Amino acid sequence: MSEPILSFDDLTVQFGGVRACDSISGRVDRGSLFALIGPNGAGKTTLVNTISGVYKPLAGATVHFHPDGKPVEDLLTYRPYQIARLGVARTFQNLGLFMGENVLTNLLLGRYIHENTRLISGGLFTRGAVKRELAAREAIERVVELLDLGEFKRDPVGDLPYGVQKRIEFGRVLAMEPELLMLDEPMAGMSVDEKQDMIRFIYAAQDELNTTVFLIEHDMGVVMSIADHVMVLDFGQKIAEGTPAEMQRDERVIAAYLGTEMAEN
Ligand SMILES: Nc1ncnc2c1ncn2[C@@H]1O[C@H](COP(=O)(O)OP(=O)(O)OP(=O)(O)O)[C@@H](O)[C@H]1O
Ligand SMILES: [Mg+2]
Repeated sequence: MSEPILSFDDLTVQFGGVRACDSISGRVDRGSLFALIGPNGAGKTTLVNTISGVYKPLAGATVHFHPDGKPVEDLLTYRPYQIARLGVARTFQNLGLFMGENVLTNLLLGRYIHENTRLISGGLFTRGAVKRELAAREAIERVVELLDLGEFKRDPVGDLPYGVQKRIEFGRVLAMEPELLMLDEPMAGMSVDEKQDMIRFIYAAQDELNTTVFLIEHDMGVVMSIADHVMVLDFGQKIAEGTPAEMQRDERVIAAYLGTEMAEN
């Protein structure tokens, strides 16, 4: 399991006087669960935003995506929607759902990344368009089943409990059928039971859809029990990386977390 799906090198992002990411390098192995942790403001979301094309790093950085069986892609040359189409999907830290629309519609919106150029160029009723429509419906049905969303299918998202909304957001990115899924605190604000469910769904995505997971998560208990590899940021710097067990006894990591959850455990 040592083949990379994502590699980045010397990634630096500057916001005015703040160096949100300072020369960060790393790689994510295909099929693994990679966790990115660090205190508030450490640069975690910025790193994901840069990989997904939202922010541009300073010159010298590289971000490479290694799609299965295809040539390596230089992600810095693409816009966010193109990166999503290549197979790198991400969720946002704050819910980005259409609260007035029902669950199915929200999931379908995830599929549009595969559609919009064709819609613009016409040909809605061609054989190709019909096939894509079928593929989209199948992908949605698979996600509904995988995430146990059947009973909520027709409900407006705004009427559903928060834990279910987070699950729908996860479903929307899964509907894109990504090879690499980046989740920015998918369990924030959840109860222990909801977190347990979410972990089950993340495992299901890995096992049944062969998705590699890049997870930003604050709950150390969750990270330590499910991650294959952990990278730790603090004040924009990578301060450590390794197995969860290694991170738990790393002096720099412990120091960065003094006074936070990890110290209390
Ligand atoms: N768009 C932006 N403009 C200016 N500064 C920003 C922007 N985005 C992030 N920052 C700054 O960059 C630093 C890193 O922020 P980032 O959101 O990446 O941290 P984080 O590790 O995701 O934190 P949290 O755990 O709170 O989500 C912070 O100092 C933040 O204020
Ligand atoms: Mg963040």
